[in-house]
Amino acid sequence: MRMMRLLPVLLVVLVVEQARASWWYLGVLGTSGSLSRDTRQISDPAAACDNSPYLDATQRELCRKEKRLLDVIGAGASMGIEECKFQFKGRRWNCTTFNNTDVFGNVIKIKSRETAYIYAISSAGVMYSVTRACAQGSLDGCGCDDTVRAQSTEGEFEWGGCSEDLHYGAKFAEDFVDSKEKAKTEAGNEATVEVDAEFSLMNLWNNKAGRLATREEVDLVCKCHGVSGSCSVKVCWKKMRPFRDIGNALKEKFDGASLMKVHRRKLKLRPISPDMKRPTRDDLVYLENSPDFCEPNIKKGSLGTRGRECNKDSYGLDGCNLMCCGRGYYTVVKEFTEDCDCKFFWCCRVECQKCTYKKEIHYCN
Ligand SMILES: *[C@@H]1O[C@H](CO)[C@@H](O)[C@H](O)[C@H]1NC(C)=O
Ligand SMILES: *[C@@H]1O[C@H](CO)[C@@H](O)[C@H](O)[C@H]1NC(C)=O
Repeated sequence: MRMMRLLPVLLVVLVVEQARASWWYLGVLGTSGSLSRDTRQISDPAAACDNSPYLDATQRELCRKEKRLLDVIGAGASMGIEECKFQFKGRRWNCTTFNNTDVFGNVIKIKSRETAYIYAISSAGVMYSVTRACAQGSLDGCGCDDTVRAQSTEGEFEWGGCSEDLHYGAKFAEDFVDSKEKAKTEAGNEATVEVDAEFSLMNLWNNKAGRLATREEVDLVCKCHGVSGSCSVKVCWKKMRPFRDIGNALKEKFDGASLMKVHRRKLKLRPISPDMKRPTRDDLVYLENSPDFCEPNIKKGSLGTRGRECNKDSYGLDGCNLMCCGRGYYTVVKEFTEDCDCKFFWCCRVECQKCTYKKEIHYCN
C-alpha cells in the first residue's frame, strides 16, 4: 500500500530528470570511461540509442544510423567540457560541472556570455570529434574530403592523404546539436514552460559560431617525397588544428561578445542599441549580463569565490584582488617535493636527489 502511493511520485521525479538531462552528460560519462563500458555491454547499438535518456527524437535517429555515434558524441562533449575548464580556470566562474541532471548547473539558465561559451565550445567539440572520427574511418557515413582534390594548388603541391571533411562534420554537428533548439524556434507548439524561443535563438547563433571557429582552425599538412629528401613532390592535406586553438579563439570571442536584444515580431537578434556594431556570424552573442560570481547564489549558478586559489602578483582576473572581490586573502605555506640534481650513469640509469621547497599559496577569504 505504501509502495503504491510512492510510485507516482517516483515517476514524476524520473520524468523531470529526463527532461533536464542532455547529451552533454555523454561527455561527463565519457571522461569517467563508463560510457565505453556501457556500450560494450549493449549488444544492440540501436537499442542503446533508443534507451538513452540523454537524446531527443532527432538525435536518436542519427544515433541509430551510426553505431559508434554515442562514443563519438561523448568524446566531443567531454572535449568541450575540458576545454571550458581549461580556458576559465583562472576566473571567478571556472566552468564547474556537476552531474547528469545538471552538467553545468544553473549558470546555463542565464542568457549570459558564459552560456554563450558553453554552447559554442560544446558544438565545436561535437563537430571536431565527428570530423576526426570520419577521417579515421570510425563512422560509416563519412570519410575524407575528396572534393579538395579539385581545388587548384598552382603547382606548388599535390593534394593527397586524407583531408578532413569539415563540411560533413559541421552539417552533422548542426543536425545533432541544434535539434532541440530548432524544435523550439520553429514549432512553438510545445506549450511547456521550457520553451524559450529567445534563448533558442541565442543558442543557435552560438552553436554556429562554435562550428565556424572550428572551420577556421585548419592547417595544411604536407609531406615531402623525392630523392634524398629533395621534396620534388610535395603532398598535402587539410587537418584541423589542436582543439586548444579553437578553445582559444572562442575565448577571445567570449571577451568580445555582443549584448543583443530580440526583435519580437521577426524573432531575430539585434544589437542592443543602433550605434553598436553588428556582430558577425562567428562572434558570440548574449542577452543578459552575468552575475559577478563573487558570492554563492545557487539560482544564478554562482559558487562564490571563497577558498579559491588566487595569484598575489597579478592585477588580472586571476589576481587576489579581483578573484576575491575585495574580501582579501589568506596565505598557506605548502611544501613540495621534486627530483633535483639528477645524474646520468652510463648506461642507462638516472639518479636524482629529492629536494623539498616551500611555496606560498593564496586563497580567497
Ligand atoms: C546534481 O547536482 C545538483 C547541483 O549541485 C544537485 O542539486 C543535485 O541534487 C544533483 N543531482 C544528483 C542526482 O546527484
Ligand atoms: C572551480 O571553482 C570551484 C568553486 O569555487 C572550486 O571548488 C574548484 O576547486 C575550482 N576549480 C579549479 C580547477 O580551480
